[in-house]
Amino acid sequence: MQTISSIKNSKSKTQIVMITAYDALFASLFDTKVDMILVGDSLNMSFNAKADTLSATMEIMLYHTKAVCAGAKDTLVVCDMPFGTYTDENMALKNASKVYQETNAHAVKIEGGQERAHIIKALTSNSIAVMGHIGLMPQFVRQEGGYKIRGKSEEDIKQLMLDAKAVEEAGAFCMVIEGVKAEVAKEITKSISIPTIGIGSGVGTDGQVLVWSDAFGFFKEFKPKFVKHYLNGAKIVEDAVISYADEVRSKTFPAKEHTY
Ligand code: KIV
Repeated sequence: MQTISSIKNSKSKTQIVMITAYDALFASLFDTKVDMILVGDSLNMSFNAKADTLSATMEIMLYHTKAVCAGAKDTLVVCDMPFGTYTDENMALKNASKVYQETNAHAVKIEGGQERAHIIKALTSNSIAVMGHIGLMPQFVRQEGGYKIRGKSEEDIKQLMLDAKAVEEAGAFCMVIEGVKAEVAKEITKSISIPTIGIGSGVGTDGQVLVWSDAFGFFKEFKPKFVKHYLNGAKIVEDAVISYADEVRSKTFPAKEHTY
């Protein structure tokens, strides 16, 4: 099982694999097959049909993190800190402490670069492991007016470099780089000593993360360029539920072998 320090030490040695999970059942299927499981606030969109992640609460994240930890007994689990729960050091410390006190998660994830480095520092200096998250940050979607690919201008590249450095210096053990031009993500990765986990940021990062329901094709209408479907999940489930309904209606289920 990976630990915070083994993840840190894997930089430039092996690619780090992270996937999201939101419940014990799927976490148990992913357990030991990936390096880290992220209980992402993306659950607000993928499993709660909300337009963005902003209404996820601490209570919701704690509930799902407990479930994931129950299923993933041998995988490092990271709990995403939801929007509005780490706006100052004291609030961040109070809420992140709840993650350690009430769940078995090993770390929390914080969105933000240079402007949030003091928050990361407040947590890491109080023995809470932090995964950073820079680049396209979904919790900034309303302020930014949409999900915008980062690293397209010299000014933005400079800011991303500053963000990565600040997050590293604040003591994060690794960081997600989301929605950043591949060449820029690669340069950031080379310029810092902690691992980078990319999503929509090309192959030059130290690892990759995907939202599991995206990766396994559960959203027919949603397939951004950076997502690969490793399974046609929606079709498999729909076909299965149609078969079940047909068999119940035709009384071919339950058959003799399903009957006491
Ligand atoms: O919430 C989430 O699932 C995330 C990943 C996409 C990195 O932040």
